[in-house]
Amino acid sequence: MAADKLEKKIIRFGVIGCGLMGKEFASAAARWCHLTDVNFEPQIIAVCDANPAASAWFVQAVPSVKYVYVDYKDMLANADVDAIYCAVPHNLHRQIYEDIIRAGKHLLGEKPFGIDKEANASILQTIKEHPQVVVRSSSEFPFFPGAMQITKWVNEGRFGRIIEVEAGFWHSSDLDPTKPINWKRRIETNGEYGCMGDLGLHVLHLPLRFGWKPRNVRALLNKIVEKRPDGRGGMAPCETWDNAILACDVQTETQHFPMVLSTKRIAPGHANTWFIRIQGTDFSAEFTTKNPKQVASLPYVPGGAQAWHVTDVPYKSAYGTITGGIFEFGFSDSILQMWAAFCDELANGSDGMLQPFRCATPEEAAGSHALFTAALESNRSGNTIPL
Ligand SMILES: NC(=O)c1ccc[n+]([C@@H]2O[C@H](COP(=O)([O-])OP(=O)(O)OC[C@H]3O[C@@H](n4cnc5c(N)ncnc54)[C@H](O)[C@@H]3O)[C@@H](O)[C@H]2O)c1
Repeated sequence: MAADKLEKKIIRFGVIGCGLMGKEFASAAARWCHLTDVNFEPQIIAVCDANPAASAWFVQAVPSVKYVYVDYKDMLANADVDAIYCAVPHNLHRQIYEDIIRAGKHLLGEKPFGIDKEANASILQTIKEHPQVVVRSSSEFPFFPGAMQITKWVNEGRFGRIIEVEAGFWHSSDLDPTKPINWKRRIETNGEYGCMGDLGLHVLHLPLRFGWKPRNVRALLNKIVEKRPDGRGGMAPCETWDNAILACDVQTETQHFPMVLSTKRIAPGHANTWFIRIQGTDFSAEFTTKNPKQVASLPYVPGGAQAWHVTDVPYKSAYGTITGGIFEFGFSDSILQMWAAFCDELANGSDGMLQPFRCATPEEAAGSHALFTAALESNRSGNTIPL
């Protein structure tokens, strides 16, 4: 007897930019069977890269690919494509994202959603003119179970009066001065924001989702390695900021507290360390991908002990999976969960999602641009800049 099959809405995707992140999506789509009880599924039917060697990997590894393009405009003319993932260098975001939206395709774009504030504002205007298109930004770390636990505690109002918040995203491979230059170290392709544009929306996604909008910023930006091998036997200047520390003043309807955000390309010993720490008068908590299984919390009652509780968080993700709760969650799981959230919103609508945590919104990306632009001004002038 044939078993009943869950009806799934197939969302036919095109991928523009078949590099590091384009491949991560292919891997997530290929193990969709990992997710239980979802009524939607992405199918990558088209790919586009200016470099044919990059799209050749997809042809080899992804059997559902039917169309291969060098010019993304040819993909946009293909009526079979419902939605697009676009993962290209930052200088191309504005033109390509806007063309995708105007073509009526849903879009999961990559951060920072435009190379600068002007490009971002133009993308947001185009989104406004095409309200039927769903547009979201990639940002996967909030889908770690430890981060989801922190979100739950914030939504429950556990913290009391917030004392301070610290969040960051730290890398260290650039500590090696022999690492060759790439587009992320050049202003023309990565933007003047440097590490803030590259890493910053990851750091701001949860604070902005919680309504913790910076009122002003004092920024300290740092360039550490000034030249790198150019791959042709010479050296090329590194033009972008390696590290950024942003001290912000947050004012909500009920709370006023300092928030320190940091994005670092050169933090010795850290590879993809994303973290958030919240201290409050009633409760404190922290999660870092350095210890991806653990979440720490400190409940406090006046006069009581101040003891951190460190718990192994079970594999309990936004969307159910076949993995048992005793196992560990990792980076590629967070990418899969983020993709489930985007496909869920496409299939079931914003109000009908199977779980409530959605991908980063264009408005959140715009909030990050406002902060990073003010941070550049703060670093230039040495002043605190209002937002
Ligand atoms: N979410 C994350 O964790 C994460 C991690 C890394 C990068 N990113 C973001 O993803 C985006 C891409 O970064 P990446 O690391 O994948 O870069 P990458 O250099 O590995 O890949 C970019 C690809 O775009 C292609 N490309 C360039 N111009 C093109 C054009 N006109 N048309 C089609 N393809 C073109 C390149 O040939 C390359 O294959 C950036 O916005 C970056 O900030 C996100």
